[in-house]
Amino acid sequence: MFHLNVRHLLLQQRISSLTDIAFNPEMGWTSCIILFLCVSVCESWPLPDTEPLMHGVVQSPQYPQPYPPNLQEQWDLSVPEGYQIRLTFTHLDIEASAGCYYDALTVLYDTNILGKFCGHENLADGHHPGNQPILSPGNRLTLMFQSDDNNPERHQNVGFSAQYQAIDMDECSAPEPEDGSGPLCSQICFNTLGSYLCSCHHGYELRADQRSCVLSCGGGIFDETEGHLFSPGYPNPPHHAVSCQYIISVESGFTVVLNFTDNFHIESMDTEQGPNCLHHWLQVTTSDREPMKLCGGKSPGLIVTNSNTVRLDYHTDNEGLSKGWSLDYSTYRVKCPLPGNVAKGRVTPILTEYFYRDYIYVRCDQGYKLMMGGQEVEGFSTMCQSSGQWHLPLPECHIIDCGEPEPLLNGGLTFLSGFQYQYRSVVQYHCNEPFYSLLGGITVVFTCEADRKWRSNSDIVVSPTCIPVCGQPTKLISAYQRIIGGSHAPEDTIPWQVLLNIDGGRGGGMVIGDRWIMTAAHNVMNKGNQVSEETVRIYMGLTDVKTQLDSPVYAASVHVHPEYNNPINVDYNHDIALIKLQDPITFNSSIMPICLPAEGATYITGVMGLVSGFGVTETGGRRILTNKMNYVQLPVVEQETCSKSITSLKKTRDNVPSLSNNMFCAGVPEGGQDSCQGDSGGPYALRDNGRFWAAGIVSWGVDCGKQGTYGVYTRVTNYMDWINKTMQEN
Ligand code: ARG
Repeated sequence: MFHLNVRHLLLQQRISSLTDIAFNPEMGWTSCIILFLCVSVCESWPLPDTEPLMHGVVQSPQYPQPYPPNLQEQWDLSVPEGYQIRLTFTHLDIEASAGCYYDALTVLYDTNILGKFCGHENLADGHHPGNQPILSPGNRLTLMFQSDDNNPERHQNVGFSAQYQAIDMDECSAPEPEDGSGPLCSQICFNTLGSYLCSCHHGYELRADQRSCVLSCGGGIFDETEGHLFSPGYPNPPHHAVSCQYIISVESGFTVVLNFTDNFHIESMDTEQGPNCLHHWLQVTTSDREPMKLCGGKSPGLIVTNSNTVRLDYHTDNEGLSKGWSLDYSTYRVKCPLPGNVAKGRVTPILTEYFYRDYIYVRCDQGYKLMMGGQEVEGFSTMCQSSGQWHLPLPECHIIDCGEPEPLLNGGLTFLSGFQYQYRSVVQYHCNEPFYSLLGGITVVFTCEADRKWRSNSDIVVSPTCIPVCGQPTKLISAYQRIIGGSHAPEDTIPWQVLLNIDGGRGGGMVIGDRWIMTAAHNVMNKGNQVSEETVRIYMGLTDVKTQLDSPVYAASVHVHPEYNNPINVDYNHDIALIKLQDPITFNSSIMPICLPAEGATYITGVMGLVSGFGVTETGGRRILTNKMNYVQLPVVEQETCSKSITSLKKTRDNVPSLSNNMFCAGVPEGGQDSCQGDSGGPYALRDNGRFWAAGIVSWGVDCGKQGTYGVYTRVTNYMDWINKTMQEN
């Protein structure tokens, strides 16, 4: 607000030397340039008057020698404008005469005689100025010294010596000029060195004449966050009509609140429609509201404008009386509506009111995600804008889902709780029983967690795996009979039994894994060479050859034990081979694997094992190649007993192979029950803890089912390292 307006009344600019040549507002640029040219071109020109001295000494001629007769001497002293001259005599000794008639020093201000002096300090007659200084009313002073021709004591009168100095004039305390032009300053006068300044009281401003003050009337823009406004002359009525405009304009995002003081008085006219602001009014205008005219004797108090720009128009005419008004305004940040709540989320910070530039943030509860316009967003914040609106609408929180859990091969999922794989859903993996079981054997439960991952209840199980169930057929043979002297195997009782067709020859085998068949080495060797895998056809899940011979499974590779070496069929040591299948098998009740021997598994003499195959069988004394799977239950034979049997056979026959510790025998001394041609590679299964395990592979024998002979089987427990290694490496 403009409270004080102080301006220099006098601009004292003089050029005292070349270095002072500069823009002179009194002379203007033109004269300045001319002056400069003259000074540089016409060097012989006298320089302009030097700056008047601020002090000096004036002395009578020949001082301190007596002054000469017939003198008429004058000194014109001057000091800068705005100063007075103070003249002080250090000594005065002039011939004394009545009224200083003969010799005298006269001090004049223009034509006014300030003093006329003669005589000297110690003299009673004459007129001596003494030690009191003489003050000139203005910045000039004239000294005139005269002497006559007749002076008896002349030689004794030395004249005078005086000092003068410029004294700042206090223009403000000078009496009002008599010309009736009014006081120097109409309200406040400040004396300055050599000059003075006028200023005005609060609510007035200095006029262009720099002397008088008028009521201030708005003007300018009030852009501070708070301020004080009042009508001209408030609380006094202005002497004349006013039409003032005040504009309060603050940053957008803020609203102006006007607070009128109680002392409010604007003339209102009583009309038929009631009091009316007819001739005097204060109109309040904001951008988005109808202008509001105020008048009357009651303060409007608080006016919340809801705008950042407010225009006040104060109007009075020359009639009527309005004492005026005054107000304090303040500004508030624009308010935004309360943001509300987000289901399954939190809005922060929680405030009772939200203003321009306030931010709010939304976070979803655990297990929920932020969604805006159907899109998921990382985070959310919105700002209260200057318009009083949030720049973004509130988002939504949607429950997260973990997506479909990883499928489990040979198993499946069951929902324990929850919905559509959403947060906190619980699923349980299971394997297709009874053919598969979970690795580790424990129940695996997965929960959809807040990080959208399925998490297991156990730290051990990262991904569940279904492993085949081995050695547990869905149906058990109730009464055991024989191959040679055996009987047909009912369906699903020996599901690991495999029928091999290699180059047209029939052999047996057993399923030991979803990609692996175990058989005898001699099945896949032909005159010392391994047969190619293409010639190997594998049939599984059969009990009758005729039914499914058209759907073989093919071998990917054939692995014969490296030490098997039997080109002329007299050495069946290491008679073991593995066939890897091209595609894994899915087990069911007719195809299931047999277990491999557990560590430390033993062959106990007399324990019954189950031999099976599609080999030669005996019906009514005739040996025929059967189409039905046959089985027989035979006991493990003491190695010593078997060895003796073979030794005795060797005495009567040529080319009887030898028994090694990689073989064992099974059978009964009286004969009649045995495996036979075509059964080779098939299983001799022992059962421990309800599980059948592959104890032997049908390998060789001397004849079939003859008294005193036994069938010879590969001792599988001796080959576990090789089996495991081969299966791992392939
Ligand atoms: N080596 C015969 C084959 O290739 C198996 C002989 C089994 N003989 C026995 N008496 N158990 O089918």
